[in-house]
Amino acid sequence: MIQSFWNKHAQGYSQLIRSDLQSNKVEKWQHFIFDEIDNTVSLNILDIGTGPGFFPAILTSDTRKVTGIDLSDEMIKVAKENLKKLGIDATIIKQDCQETDFQEASFDVLICRNLVWTVPNPEKAYREWYRLLKPNGQLLIFDGSWYSHHFHEDAKKRFDEKAKELQEKYNLIAHNYGDKTTDPEDFDMMNALYLSDKRRPEWDKTCLENIGFTVTKIEENYLDRILDEQEKQYRTDIAPVFFIKAIKK
Ligand SMILES: C[S@@+](CC[C@H](N)C(=O)[O-])C[C@H]1O[C@@H](n2cnc3c(N)ncnc32)[C@H](O)[C@@H]1O
Repeated sequence: MIQSFWNKHAQGYSQLIRSDLQSNKVEKWQHFIFDEIDNTVSLNILDIGTGPGFFPAILTSDTRKVTGIDLSDEMIKVAKENLKKLGIDATIIKQDCQETDFQEASFDVLICRNLVWTVPNPEKAYREWYRLLKPNGQLLIFDGSWYSHHFHEDAKKRFDEKAKELQEKYNLIAHNYGDKTTDPEDFDMMNALYLSDKRRPEWDKTCLENIGFTVTKIEENYLDRILDEQEKQYRTDIAPVFFIKAIKK
């Protein structure tokens, strides 16, 4: 089900990513990531759930080898096309992030944006990622609690307040992830996913620490560092987002 969902959305997603690749977001993301990793040494980086290939496109260099993995054939196709057009030499392969073919301790850095929420067994995935990292290797996770307002009163209150403000100030309708009537496909997805009703990033922190990671940073609303003022004001996607950094000790 997940695979066909992403196959279907590959072209549209790729358009968004291509537009981001032409924007000042590239530099902002690079600054963000290079503040977190030791960029003075050669690095073997894995981008997990690479989608249309944004991170391989902005992180590959003479000293940084980037491999992108994805489960969707269509995403792999668009990622390869995008990287070829940009003349970027990154490896893109099909792998399930919960169980990969890579050898233990293959990577210095794992990066993953907007994937964990859709993984059927995130604990299995985190265990696999621990295996893939070298000792002291770093895991950077960017994700969001897209459906929390359907499950938790406090999250619903925050969501409704933000939605009201958006409507009153800018006459914009908030994107209501998981809405049964306006977006039945998203509703089905919400009900199928393990993490939809979990409190995050708390769930992730506990899970990562139980596996052996040291969680060194959690930053809510990390997109404030990426989006410009206008984008922040007009953003209809108001679900909470977060960044987690964890190290394999
Ligand atoms: C929302 S997209 C994010 C793409 C990219 N990380 C980005 O931020 O531009 C989620 C991606 O994760 C991929 N994905 C979903 N489940 C996966 C799995 N089990 N293993 C590998 N990739 C997966 C999807 O095919 C999709 O390309």
